[in-house]
Amino acid sequence: MSQNTRKYLIAGNWKMNNTPSEGAELVREINLALGQETSVGVVVCPPFTALEACAGELSGSNVQLGAQNMYPKSEGAYTGEVSPVMLRALFCTFVILGHSERREYFAESDSFINEKVLAAIESNLKPILCVGERLEEREAGTTMEVIKKQLDGGLAGVTAEMAESLIIAYEPVWAIGTGKTATPEMAQEVHAAIRADLATKFGETASKIRILYGGSMKPANASELLDQPDIDGGLIGGASLQSKPFVELVKIASNK
Ligand code: PGA
Repeated sequence: MSQNTRKYLIAGNWKMNNTPSEGAELVREINLALGQETSVGVVVCPPFTALEACAGELSGSNVQLGAQNMYPKSEGAYTGEVSPVMLRALFCTFVILGHSERREYFAESDSFINEKVLAAIESNLKPILCVGERLEEREAGTTMEVIKKQLDGGLAGVTAEMAESLIIAYEPVWAIGTGKTATPEMAQEVHAAIRADLATKFGETASKIRILYGGSMKPANASELLDQPDIDGGLIGGASLQSKPFVELVKIASNK
């Protein structure tokens, strides 16, 4: 259990990796080790095309399924897109929104991400809203300004009641896939500021919202990060692509 009463959450973001059969195999290994896990929330987020195969491996498991993106409409003429209703039908309970790769490569704006956050909550999907500064923004000393703008934009119209299902992931862009991790103190500083901002938006509910750290988190650096009072888990990219480090990360959290 993390500090306060927030249960740690370890979420694997597979990004554009794993075919359905590769995904099913990975999830089978994860499920063997963690299918009965209750002290830590465990989520895997495969690409859309592997969701069904992964869901097939996870029936009755405590390992939950998430998607990496969605379109904020239930259905219609939106070629190439996938709706929250479709994700629910594939047993997804979480959805990553506003990942920095989507902001950067697909020009996703805070207002578009906001539409997704609202649509996800409406469909009973728990949004994992990603925020984080780029290196030049950190160097310019504008980290919290950037993050506040992402939170204000991404969470517009979200009420305290709706925020009960919200998860935030703080992912400094310069730490993603680079092997560079924020120090636990640097991460904690931002996490605390995020929680303070959430408190102005949602009052007491802010103390229940889990704020994950993401960016080169792995077994070797997870323990110190998870010891920080406002770090409630991790959004894991590279280290979620093999069962061993991913399972180890969950074990580190469950031993806290
Ligand atoms: P990483 O990715 O763990 O490979 O740095 C994290 C993420 O992008 O969610």
